[in-house]
Amino acid sequence: MHIGVPREIKRMETRVACTPSAVRHLVSGGHRVVVQLGAGHSSGFSDDKYRRAGAVMTESSEEVWQSELVVKVKEPLREEYRYFRRDLIIFTFLHLAGNPELSQELLSAGVTAIAYETVQDNGRLPLLAPMSEIAGKMSVLMGGYYLAHQHGGEGILLGGVPGVLPAKVAILGGGSAGMQAARAAASCGADVTVLELDQERMRFLEAALPPQVHTLYSTEQHIDEQLASLDLLIGAALVPGAAASKLVKRGMLRSVKKGAVFVDISIDQGGCFETSRATTHEAPVFVEEGVIHYCVSNMPAAYPRTSTEALCGATLPCIRRIADLGFESAMVMTPGLAGGLNIWNGSITHRALADSLDRPFTENPFL
Ligand SMILES: NC(=O)c1ccc[n+]([C@@H]2O[C@H](COP(=O)([O-])OP(=O)(O)OC[C@H]3O[C@@H](n4cnc5c(N)ncnc54)[C@H](O)[C@@H]3O)[C@@H](O)[C@H]2O)c1
Repeated sequence: MHIGVPREIKRMETRVACTPSAVRHLVSGGHRVVVQLGAGHSSGFSDDKYRRAGAVMTESSEEVWQSELVVKVKEPLREEYRYFRRDLIIFTFLHLAGNPELSQELLSAGVTAIAYETVQDNGRLPLLAPMSEIAGKMSVLMGGYYLAHQHGGEGILLGGVPGVLPAKVAILGGGSAGMQAARAAASCGADVTVLELDQERMRFLEAALPPQVHTLYSTEQHIDEQLASLDLLIGAALVPGAAASKLVKRGMLRSVKKGAVFVDISIDQGGCFETSRATTHEAPVFVEEGVIHYCVSNMPAAYPRTSTEALCGATLPCIRRIADLGFESAMVMTPGLAGGLNIWNGSITHRALADSLDRPFTENPFL
C-alpha cells in the first residue's frame, strides 16, 4: 500500500505519525511510505533517518496526500480539505464531535475516516491511551505551575510542607488521563479525589493508586461540594466519540476559590467545563470567574520525543494491518479497529458521533 506521512500544520504541533523505525517496519512489509520533509524534526528525527529507513522524502504535500492511506497526528485543517477524495483513507486523531465543519467535508468528499480515539480493545481506547497518559501527567505539571502566585494562581504548593496542608486536587474521570493525573498529583503529595461513574473502575483505581487518592461517584452534588474547597480541577471525562458533557456549569464557579486552576484535558472533545474554550501552547490559559483555565487541545505536543514514540508504538500495528490486509479485510478481521471508523462512504458510522452532531447514523458495515 502507498502510505503518506504529512508534516503536521496545526500551530505548535510537534509530533509526527511515523518514526523512522515504523517506516522501516512498513517498508520491510513491502509498502511504500512517503514522508514530507521536516515532518520528524521536532520529534528528533532528521530527514536522513527517514531516508535510511526506506522512506521516499518529498517537500510536496500533494504527493504525500496522493497516498491511499494518510496517517497523521491531528485532524486535517482547512488547507488540507482540498486533498480529500473518495479513495482516500485518513487515519488520525479526528475528534469530530466538536468539529461539524470537518465532518461535513469528509462526508461530502466520501473519505474513509478512521479516528485513533475510537479504536477499541476490550472496552479501552488503546490509541488514545498513550496520549491521555501524557496529558494526565502533564495536567498536574501545568496545574502546579499556574497555581503559583506569579502566574496568577492562588499561591498554594501542590504537596504542602510539614505543618501545612497540601493542595486539594479533584479529577473528573478516572480513565487513562485521569488515572495518570491522580498518580502524578499524589506523588507530589496533594490530596486527590477522582470522580467517576464506573464503579468497577473506581475499585481498580483504589487498588492501584496510593492511599491519598480517593474515589467518589460523579454526581452534580458531589462535584459542587468538591468545587468549594479544591485548588486544582482536572477534567478528563469521556464517553468515546461523543462531545464531552458540561459537568461544571458557569454558575457553579461562584463557590470556587479565586486563583484556583482548571485544566480541561477533555477540551479536544469540546471540554467538560462550560467556561472552557480551546487554547494553544502559545497562549495556554485564560481567566473566567476568577479561575485560571488551561485548555490546550494538543497537550502532548509539548513533549514530542515522548509523545511521538508513544503514539507510534500504539498505532503501528493498526497501520500495518490496514496496509497488509487492505482496508475492508482489516476492518472485518479486527473489530476493535473497525470501531475506529467514524465516516465511510458519505455516512457517519459511529453512533455517539452521529448523536453529538445530530446527524443520521449508518450502521458500521464491518462490525
Ligand atoms: N487535551 C489533550 O491534549 C488531550 C490529550 C489526550 C487525551 N485527551 C482527552 O482526554 C479525555 C480523557 O481521555 P481518556 O483516554 O482518559 O478516556 P478514558 O475513556 O480512558 O476515560 C474516561 C473516563 O471518564 C469516565 N466518565 C465518563 N463520564 C463521566 C462523568 N460524567 N463523570 C466522571 N467520569 C466520567 C469514564 O467512565 C472513563 O473512565 C478525552 O476527551 C481525550 O480525548 C486530551
